[in-house]
Amino acid sequence: MIDLRSDTITRPTQGMLEAMTNAAVGDDVFGEDPTVNAFQKKVAELFGKEAGLFVSSGTMGNQLGIKVHTEPGDEVLIDEKGHVFNYETGAASFLSGVQLNPLKGERGKLSVDVLKNRVRGLYEWEPRTKVICIENTTNKGGGVCYTEQELNGISEFATDHELIIHLDGARIWNAITASGVKPKFFGEIAETISVCFSKGLGAPVGSMLLGPEEKIRKARRLRKMMGGGMRQIGLLAAAADYALEKHWPLLEEDHRRAKAFAQTVSECSQLSIDLDSVETNIVIFDVKEGGAPAALAKLADQGIHMVQFGADTIRATFHFQVGDAELEKVIKTIKSLFR
Ligand SMILES: Cc1ncc(COP(=O)(O)O)c(C=O)c1O
Repeated sequence: MIDLRSDTITRPTQGMLEAMTNAAVGDDVFGEDPTVNAFQKKVAELFGKEAGLFVSSGTMGNQLGIKVHTEPGDEVLIDEKGHVFNYETGAASFLSGVQLNPLKGERGKLSVDVLKNRVRGLYEWEPRTKVICIENTTNKGGGVCYTEQELNGISEFATDHELIIHLDGARIWNAITASGVKPKFFGEIAETISVCFSKGLGAPVGSMLLGPEEKIRKARRLRKMMGGGMRQIGLLAAAADYALEKHWPLLEEDHRRAKAFAQTVSECSQLSIDLDSVETNIVIFDVKEGGAPAALAKLADQGIHMVQFGADTIRATFHFQVGDAELEKVIKTIKSLFR
């Protein structure tokens, strides 16, 4: 089976399991786990942030990020394709009592043009816009990255309007690899960043919220409140650290394979794709006739699994446990099924 449904389906490697076994651990609710403490410091420093908080998932990282910046009734501006808006169970309204205002950007990215005139709070009957939530890379937007120039524009806009930027960096590692933008730059433009180790990096569990000391302290209390206080968490931090050290360099290969696959899709008369949107490990394409479920079933018959992303739309996501031999099989199969 070749599983391209998501980059979250990878299994821990032998090396990762050994790193977990060898981790020094303690009770993190007491703040006594040396491995997680060191890892939080390391990742925070990488992004030029004061502090980091290991959390169970990207969703928890994003939701804590939103909660530490807002009060009930506040508004968060987000692209309509944003993960926080589409795939986090409406948590922002439940946990923070905020209103998400989904805006129509480009491939999941916001821009100054899109944000212009959307800030509210001047009149007492309006919601108070507080946060701009951006995502990099964009998942539903096809894995595209922001340029430094685009981010500078959003950052200036946020400063001018006294807004806080939260960055959903579930795949920030892919963005750094593909765009060459340095981690510290993201730390400069975003007050908080949520990063994931369990997507393309291949850790079984784990994300981190990064930000100023005071906000991370607040997030730590909220994490406990949400049942996210964990004990000998060094086991998971060791896996995440291993993933960062050993698997981050492999993302470049995922991007190369995704591009080769996308090129094949573009050459198939029964499929269509916006090749320019393929910048990292995610490939989103359309089936011209017959719909996505039928196409996915044909692929599944050949042992190849992708995921439905709309009535006619399919997403394939590359990760380090799909190599060149698997890519070759996928390319051959796509050509024969959808020529
Ligand atoms: C862009 C983005 N943000 C956040 C998340 C949430 O991560 P988790 O599934 O760990 O909650 C995902 C998950 O795929 C994602 O793609």
